[in-house]
Amino acid sequence: MAEHDLFSNALPPLDRIGELRALLDHHNRLYYNKATPDISDAEYDLFFRELENLEAKYPEFHDPNSPTLRVGGAPIEGFQQIQHAVPMLSIDDVFELGAEAMQKSDATRPEQELIEFYQRLQKNLKREDIAVTIEPKIDGAAVSLLYQNGKLVYAATRGDGRTGDDVTHNVRTIRSIPLDLKFQQVADSTPNVDLEELPYHHTNEPNPLPNTPSTIPALLEVRGEIFMPNEAFATLNAERDEAGLPTFANPRNSAAGTLKLLDPKIVAERPLAFLAHGLGAYDGPKLETEHDFHHLLATLGIPQNQPILTAHNLDELLEAVAKINHDRHALDYGTDGAVIKVLDRAEREQLGFTSRAPRWAAAYKFLPEQKETTLENIIIQVGRTGVLTPVAELTPVLISGSTVSRATLHNQDEITKKDIRLGATVLIEKAGEIIPAIVKVIRHVEAAIPFSLYDCVGGKCPSCGGPISQEEGFVAWRCTNFACPAQAVTSIKHFAARKALDLDGLGEIVAEALVRHGHCTTPLDLFNLTETTLANLNLGSEESPRRFGEKNAAKVLAALIAAKSKPLHRWLYAMGIRQLGESAAKELSRLHRTIAEIPESAILAELLRDTRATAKKQNDFLAKYSITGDVGPAVAETIISFFKSEAGQHVLTQLAQLGIDPVSDNYLPIAGESDLSALPLAGKTFVITGTLSTDRDAMKELIESKGGKVSGSVSAKTSYVLAGEGGGSKREKAEKLGVTILDEAALKALIS
Ligand code: IVH
Repeated sequence: MAEHDLFSNALPPLDRIGELRALLDHHNRLYYNKATPDISDAEYDLFFRELENLEAKYPEFHDPNSPTLRVGGAPIEGFQQIQHAVPMLSIDDVFELGAEAMQKSDATRPEQELIEFYQRLQKNLKREDIAVTIEPKIDGAAVSLLYQNGKLVYAATRGDGRTGDDVTHNVRTIRSIPLDLKFQQVADSTPNVDLEELPYHHTNEPNPLPNTPSTIPALLEVRGEIFMPNEAFATLNAERDEAGLPTFANPRNSAAGTLKLLDPKIVAERPLAFLAHGLGAYDGPKLETEHDFHHLLATLGIPQNQPILTAHNLDELLEAVAKINHDRHALDYGTDGAVIKVLDRAEREQLGFTSRAPRWAAAYKFLPEQKETTLENIIIQVGRTGVLTPVAELTPVLISGSTVSRATLHNQDEITKKDIRLGATVLIEKAGEIIPAIVKVIRHVEAAIPFSLYDCVGGKCPSCGGPISQEEGFVAWRCTNFACPAQAVTSIKHFAARKALDLDGLGEIVAEALVRHGHCTTPLDLFNLTETTLANLNLGSEESPRRFGEKNAAKVLAALIAAKSKPLHRWLYAMGIRQLGESAAKELSRLHRTIAEIPESAILAELLRDTRATAKKQNDFLAKYSITGDVGPAVAETIISFFKSEAGQHVLTQLAQLGIDPVSDNYLPIAGESDLSALPLAGKTFVITGTLSTDRDAMKELIESKGGKVSGSVSAKTSYVLAGEGGGSKREKAEKLGVTILDEAALKALIS
């Protein structure tokens, strides 16, 4: 490492660029393909940034295969078509038979179809013992990668087998796919995983290729699967559940769906991986067996499917298939079968193809393991964005190598569709190594009633007791309380966003730390933070602490002070109520002067009543406000139910206690009338007392003409008391509540 770094800066830019690209490729490979990084993230970042800078300075040395472009380029309009150099065939499935299938086919073993496949090989090759390889069948999306002289030219989906979609822009973001092939040191003559305990362990197979081949194939079309590792798949589905989006049924769909996105930047954020398992067009060193092919992949640094077992006869084949079925549960990606291929490429040619598939390969599909268990309870979890997700608590059972005691039920629709009731005996399955799912109900307990998520939580968020609502067009129920502790991080992050209250310096990491250390459970708690608390906030871990610091603390505190007087629409938007986007917030603030007006809003109440009654009827009351589509009955419903709820009332009280009274800066409910909000007293409430130079009505008119309101009695909501001579009790009350008292001169100053 050191020699690169010490001397290289003296290199001409093109050489240094080449060197950095090779260096980063090398470390990518160690990190993503071998999981054995040998430099720190910080060191990696340093090289990365140096390359980025050089590439920006010398655009003439642009290379689409540069490691800096793994983050994804600009979105594309649609997919080009690519004709495969060699068609991408599928393989015939042979099935493991369940009890029912066995009865129907008078098969003697679950592996009957596999045995018949091997017997066909024997018949066609006119030999007893035929060597085959056995490997896991990856539950992913098939792609073809074409390399010319070691450079990735394109990546295409299978499509109809002859023509596929060009997904190069997306595939470039997959870090484990080399863009520039380089020779790798290969320790062993064969990468195949050894099965010490099996009789057909093949470390003694001859080494077919020299360990350091001299040429990179002029043409190499590698076929393989792009997939999403189990954990990433589970996380993505949980996020989709949260967002009220439909979940992906299996890892294959999630990988295929991601590959078909038009925006490579989103693809770059999803942890896709690739494993090679086949060869298309090829011009390179001679390959005699499947082992030669895998050796070639290893020397070129292309990640390949593993383990590859070898069997020399039917008994070994059955044993290997059983072993794959057992071991596959430990792999970090979904598998639902084993692929069997004839080892010898000359024998493959002899066997040839049917119209749709090679005769030399088969996919043996395992039955997903299923178990019966009891649904003991359904708990409702509140996610980071407030979605209520039902989770099944099951009597623990061992399935596909692990004990299962929970299964996600996704949402109410799923529960209704499967008629899931408490106490039921259910059939669960772990297909393709994903999170267990309830397949179906086997029987209910007597008198069990249909499960209702809404009733189960009593119509309230189980985390904070706030109101819940179901968004139009979404199945998920969601807590709408912006002060819900389960959503603290998300709501603080949103509250601080630029378009909300623009709390500069307060991002996700700070929000996480504030919540983790118990300083905030709701966004309004931010206003009680002290400079010391903020400065000492540990953004790191206990082992490697990272202090937020005085300077950052001061910045955040200043932003919080500024936020207090930000206009109403920003405050409404900051509350993160789902239906209340930026334009709906602006529309609400056009229709209301202050936040306190909203729960009492005649306009919102009428909007609700109007649509509930006769939808199409022209409503004279509403017509004069020319309300845009941004504020409809759904917004009215959510916002009224929130502010009228205990949780919403609590928020209003807290705001008042903090001295925060957001005022509209675009108040103009009736178009054409003068814009009151621009006036100096907009949003201010006055109480008049004592003897003034003119009569009270004239004073009232003056205040109202300047945008203020006049009310009869003093309360905490009163902005000012205008006091002349005398005016005893109101003046006293104002003093007690801390309301500012003005004389006429002070009022005039305010107006001008
Ligand atoms: S070999 C001539 N090996 O499953 C095709 N395919 O159902 C030879 N697949 O088209 C394919 N894992 O997209 C092979 N280890 C594996 C595989 C695998 C998944 C896919 C592949 C194939 C499909 C057939």
